[in-house]
Amino acid sequence: MTRHLLITGGCGFIGSNFVRFIRQTRPDWRLTNVDVLTYSGNLENLEDLTESDDRYRFVKGDICDRAVLHPLITEADAVVHLAAESHVDRSILDSRPFVQTNVLGTQTLLDALRRAQANDGRPRRFVYVSTDEVYGSLPLDDPDNKFTEQTPLDPRSPYAASKAAGDQMTLAYFHTFGMDVAVTRCSNNLGPYQFPEKVIPLFVTNLMDGEKVPLYGDGKNVRDWIHVDDHCEALLAVLERGQAGEVYNVGGNNERSNIELTLAILELMGCGKEMITYVKDRPGHDRRYAIDASKIEADLGWKPTRSAWPEALRETVDWYRANRTWWERVKSGAYRDYYKQQYGARIGAACACED
Ligand code: NAD
Ligand code: TYD
Repeated sequence: MTRHLLITGGCGFIGSNFVRFIRQTRPDWRLTNVDVLTYSGNLENLEDLTESDDRYRFVKGDICDRAVLHPLITEADAVVHLAAESHVDRSILDSRPFVQTNVLGTQTLLDALRRAQANDGRPRRFVYVSTDEVYGSLPLDDPDNKFTEQTPLDPRSPYAASKAAGDQMTLAYFHTFGMDVAVTRCSNNLGPYQFPEKVIPLFVTNLMDGEKVPLYGDGKNVRDWIHVDDHCEALLAVLERGQAGEVYNVGGNNERSNIELTLAILELMGCGKEMITYVKDRPGHDRRYAIDASKIEADLGWKPTRSAWPEALRETVDWYRANRTWWERVKSGAYRDYYKQQYGARIGAACACED
């Protein structure tokens, strides 16, 4: 039974939504959020919690650092592991941080869990938040073909390859050491607090600034969009009811081509097609992702309830329109100062002691 949950990467997009979601749905749980605050980690995503909630603790720390993890895992009952380098385009520019955090960081967490279990005999559930991108790319001309949990992994970007390595390492710890792990593979998320390098917040905020939107290649690549709240529901379902050693696909049943998505954003923003700039395609750009989520629906009773289109997109666009200060501070870099203001006196102190 979970009483104290350790969340990694809780200052990122999905992580901050998940922290808030757990706070609302499981108000009696203690939460520890360990996050090293890379460029995509933003304490302002959780501004409302950090100052007021004594069951919530933020720890600035690196998941590759055993000394940080050991005390956190010892006291935790379960871990939901979201910390990652998450942007495909960055992985094309430099894949090294992806291997460091997504592979070595995951292995460090798994070893810390194994040691804690060996010390006190208490198994702790570990949920690895993987991605549909580990399956590779589907063709556009076969709409019934979707990724199932049996689809062989075929990652094609350095990001996807590093996530697949973490995903397989997690399952290896089930088979080899009998550890209580489960893996989720989710499709593209949309919602509040997404870093404005990803397509939806980038396009909306560009348009709000009167700038054009850069559409890669022919714009026909397809993504299967899910609202982040539905993803959070799925993570909780797997944490509480998933089977050890199992993989669960998670998707919104919501396939859109990038051009469809772009035209919908333009319409919501009251802009015309002249605001699109077609730019050089991403190298190795996966053509289509599509998730068959029937296993989690049948086994755990999960279903997306917030991802209906176009409402989910409209709500998301409205959030960025209403929260200009949030994304302006991200785009200008001002959000980096927030940590110093809140925790400045303790910078340099042992990370794991910031409670
Ligand atoms: P994000 O980039 O917004 O957040 C990642 C967080 O991890 C940041 O707060 C960052 O500071 C933290 N982090 C990075 N390296 C760390 C380290 N070494 N130690 C501690 N913290 C570290 O990413 P996101 O979009 O919220 O994605 C979260 C997870 O969900 C990732 O594992 C990603 O692969 C997975 N995922 C994302 C999507 C999506 O559409 N965004 C879809 C499926 C799966
Ligand atoms: P992205 O948000 O980077 O997510 P992912 O690569 O993990 O799917 O991109 C979503 C889709 O949008 C993808 O097909 C690439 C495309 N895209 C653009 O056309 N222009 C952009 O500026 C970005 C960031 C993405």
